[in-house]
Amino acid sequence: MRKNLIVGNWKMHATHLETIQMVQKLSYRLEPSDYERVEVVVCPPFTALRSAQTVIEVDHLRIGLGAQNVFWEEEGAYTGEVAAGMLAKLAVAYVIVGHSERRQLFGESDADANRKVGAVLEHDMTPILCVGETEAEREAGSTEDKVAAQLRVGLQGLQAGAVEKVVIAYEPIWAIGTGRTASADDAGAVVTFIRGLVADEWGPAAEAVRILYGGSVNPGNIAGMMAKPDIDGALVGGASLDPDSLASIVRFWS
Ligand code: 13P
Repeated sequence: MRKNLIVGNWKMHATHLETIQMVQKLSYRLEPSDYERVEVVVCPPFTALRSAQTVIEVDHLRIGLGAQNVFWEEEGAYTGEVAAGMLAKLAVAYVIVGHSERRQLFGESDADANRKVGAVLEHDMTPILCVGETEAEREAGSTEDKVAAQLRVGLQGLQAGAVEKVVIAYEPIWAIGTGRTASADDAGAVVTFIRGLVADEWGPAAEAVRILYGGSVNPGNIAGMMAKPDIDGALVGGASLDPDSLASIVRFWS
């Protein structure tokens, strides 16, 4: 059975002090039973990871910690970059890889994403590999080709045992930060296609791999997404900055 997973991607928001408050507020709004049904993860900026780690440990919170990016080398002369081993030491459990903002604004390629996935797995953390099409690609009917190519390169060289540990996030670019969410049917269809592709390439890993939807997820549309059997959770941007709305998304059934 795949456990539901809700991940807040805070992007470039929240100082370390704001992060402490946001993590605590989120924890006040969640019950122990919520964590039984859903794994809850927040991804603050690098500068807030240490503070988030501390509040989670001191207050014994069941909220998981994620990072938004990583560099694949172990160490060296790479000014401004952060290595996977550094994140692992902060009790980071998840690392977002290949987010469309990294791809579009910072020129990251599928091959870069592949190296990052490898580095994250090497340090026993879970990569959240993001894939998704532009609006033009969707209109041209090439959504599946785009997503398949991103996955084949992003996961290249991994055995089934490694692929089943990866989380895949399907985030149509036209739905990110726009308030225009994919319909649950459309999102579910692409996620089912992704699971099929994993089955074709990596066999049994397809049953275990968790696949999230991302793109303008909010408390009003999460239940429809979660009703799709292949969608295991969500990667939430804007709505994850408000602890009330993130808690409502976590409690999608209520
Ligand atoms: P929004 O939820 O703000 O659309 O962002 C989605 C996203 O990019 C999460 O990684």
